[in-house]
Amino acid sequence: MGFTHTRADFPEDFLFGAATAAYQIEGSSFGGCGPSHWDTFAATPGNVANGDDGAVACDHYHRFAEDLDLVRVAGFDAYRFSTSWSRVLPEGRGRTNEAGLDYYERLVDEILSRGLRPFLTLYHWDLPAALSDLGGWRNRDVADWFADFTEIVIGRIGDRVAAVATLNEPWCVSWLSHFWGFHAPGLRDIRATAHSMHHVLLAHGRAVEVMRAMNQRNLGIVLNFEYANPATDTDADRAAADRYDGIYNRWFVEAMFSGRYPDIALEGLGSHMPKGFENDMETIGAPLDWLGVNYYTRSNLRHLPNAMWPTFEAVPGPLDKTDMGWEIYPDGLRNILTRLHRDYTRGLPIYVTENGMAGANETGPGTIDDAVRTDYFDAHLHAVRGAIKDGVPVKGYFAWSLLDNYEWSFGYGKRFGIVHVDYATQKRTPKASYQAFRQALSRS
Ligand code: NOJ
Repeated sequence: MGFTHTRADFPEDFLFGAATAAYQIEGSSFGGCGPSHWDTFAATPGNVANGDDGAVACDHYHRFAEDLDLVRVAGFDAYRFSTSWSRVLPEGRGRTNEAGLDYYERLVDEILSRGLRPFLTLYHWDLPAALSDLGGWRNRDVADWFADFTEIVIGRIGDRVAAVATLNEPWCVSWLSHFWGFHAPGLRDIRATAHSMHHVLLAHGRAVEVMRAMNQRNLGIVLNFEYANPATDTDADRAAADRYDGIYNRWFVEAMFSGRYPDIALEGLGSHMPKGFENDMETIGAPLDWLGVNYYTRSNLRHLPNAMWPTFEAVPGPLDKTDMGWEIYPDGLRNILTRLHRDYTRGLPIYVTENGMAGANETGPGTIDDAVRTDYFDAHLHAVRGAIKDGVPVKGYFAWSLLDNYEWSFGYGKRFGIVHVDYATQKRTPKASYQAFRQALSRS
């Protein structure tokens, strides 16, 4: 069945969109794109399920017109996409790849010609391999490299995009990639983690500086949030959830909106931070025009005695789970939106830039009745409405994702799309959740 909501339940200017990211859909082997650290990470056996990589992905590089038709026909108002740094600068700096810049120019023109608003994310995790070899996010110079990349992209398509996010999910760029080792470059090193947690924000601040100087409008960043739930009602587990919250939910937003890192996270990270990091806080805190919120789930945290800092682990909770094993918890979205508005953004527009779920057994053939996903979207739209009722200026909602795509270290096995992709033929088949959006968004 469809949604219990329609467009009419939201403010007149509320934007509905679909989201994707370059490495997950384009195909990194096409059009003179240089290698990114995801290509090299995926090439090492054991890093990615099934040894999958993004070399072909959804072949979106060649099929973007067809894919954008799907966005338009569903009735969406906006499309969120990212630019691949190594497609624009194959070695990360220096030589530009004209075919890559030309591609993004055509992409944006095709988005606009369908009446859609282009929401650009400059960086969604595909760091050029050449820069990764120089230390990547651990190297302070990355802030300047990113500022230069930003200037090139904005110089070419900035005049036609509706909004720009500097980076997607800095927690994943730093913590997931350098502490847990699940994402490229696959490190498990607390010093690398602390450095990248700071440098990713410095890069953000430098990019904002560059774009302000170019008079670029509507600048933001996309952060990920999880509701941090103590696994049991004990002091120890509550403290574990607070530590998780400090690292995951507070570190980035607090730096940008309050000019400091939370003490609860500095407790463990302080001695590993780059020297003089305090001097960068002003650059990091450059005023923004909007905040992007990615929300999927809650985590249940348990205290781990005798372990190293941060002495917590996430344990399975009792709620229904998606194919990622993530609990479905829509109330967490309302909670996070109201909390962000109250404690940090205070009236700044917020967009839900990602929300969605991976479904099991979506192999086709024929239509895919992804009823669980349809309900998931509906319940989270309800949470967004609740936040709007609470007075939070939520201005839009983007479904993750338009297409089934490369789910990073899970490869192609996890399907988040509202459109099914048959990777053998590249055939697209809209799922029932796509039809639910189409019905809810129709203006007739
Ligand atoms: C957030 C990331 O931005 C996106 O790349 C990923 O596919 C989804 N989460 C689902 O895990």
